[in-house]
Amino acid sequence: MVNIAVVYHSQYGHTKAVAEAVARGAASVAGASVELVSADDLPAPDKDRKLGGKWPVLSVADAIIFGCPTYMGSISAGLKRVFEASSGLWMQQAWKDKVAAGFTNSGSWHGDKLNTLQDVVHFAMQHGMIWVGLDLLPGANSSKGSPTDLNRIGSSTGVMTQSNVDQGPDVAPPENDRKTAERLGQRVAEATLRWKRGG
Ligand SMILES: Cc1cc2nc3c(=O)[nH]c(=O)nc-3n(C[C@H](O)[C@H](O)[C@H](O)COP(=O)(O)O)c2cc1C
Repeated sequence: MVNIAVVYHSQYGHTKAVAEAVARGAASVAGASVELVSADDLPAPDKDRKLGGKWPVLSVADAIIFGCPTYMGSISAGLKRVFEASSGLWMQQAWKDKVAAGFTNSGSWHGDKLNTLQDVVHFAMQHGMIWVGLDLLPGANSSKGSPTDLNRIGSSTGVMTQSNVDQGPDVAPPENDRKTAERLGQRVAEATLRWKRGG
C-alpha cells in the first residue's frame, strides 16, 4: 500500500478540478490510497514551529503531487506559502525520497506555465524528492495536434491544463485535460509502488 497526497491551491475552482482528476487517476491503481489536500488546510508553523492542519497527511505520504494555477507567469502565492512553510521539514530533509510530481492550470494556452512547473521541480529537488514527469507524447491520442488530444499542450515535466477564463470549472479545463491529469496520477501511483517495493 502507498499513500499519495495531492496538494493544490485553487482560487476559482479550475485547478481543484484538475487536482480531483489527478487523485482519480492515482486512486485507480490497486494498492494506492489517495488524499486531496487544499493549500488552505496547510497553515504556517505556529509559534512553537509546529505544523498543524493537514501537514501530518504529508508526513505519511509516499508521494506528493503539487498543483496550482499559473499566476503572473509563476507559481500562485497560495502554493508558494505552503512551500515556504515547509522549510523546517527541508532542514530535516523529512521528505527525502518521497516521490513528487506537479501540475498547473492557466487561462492562456501557453501562459508561461513551464516556469510554474520548474518552480515545483526545484522545490521538490530541495527536499530530496524523486520527480516523476508525464509519459504522454504531445497529442497523445491523435498525433494531429488537435485541441481534443490528451496532453494537447505538450508538456513532459508535469501536467499543463488550460481553462478558458470565461468558463466555470464545470466545463473548463476540458475533458481531455482532465484525462491527461488522471494519467499523471496513475503514473505516480504506479511509480511509487515500484519505488517502495524496491526498498
Ligand atoms: C492574479 C492572476 C494572475 C494570472 N496570471 C496568469 C498567467 O500568467 N498566465 C495565464 O495564462 N493565466 C493567468 N491567470 C489566469 C488563471 O491562471 C486561470 O484563470 C486559472 O484557471 C485560475 O485557476 P483557479 O480557478 O484554480 O483559481 C491569472 C489569473 C489571476 C487571478
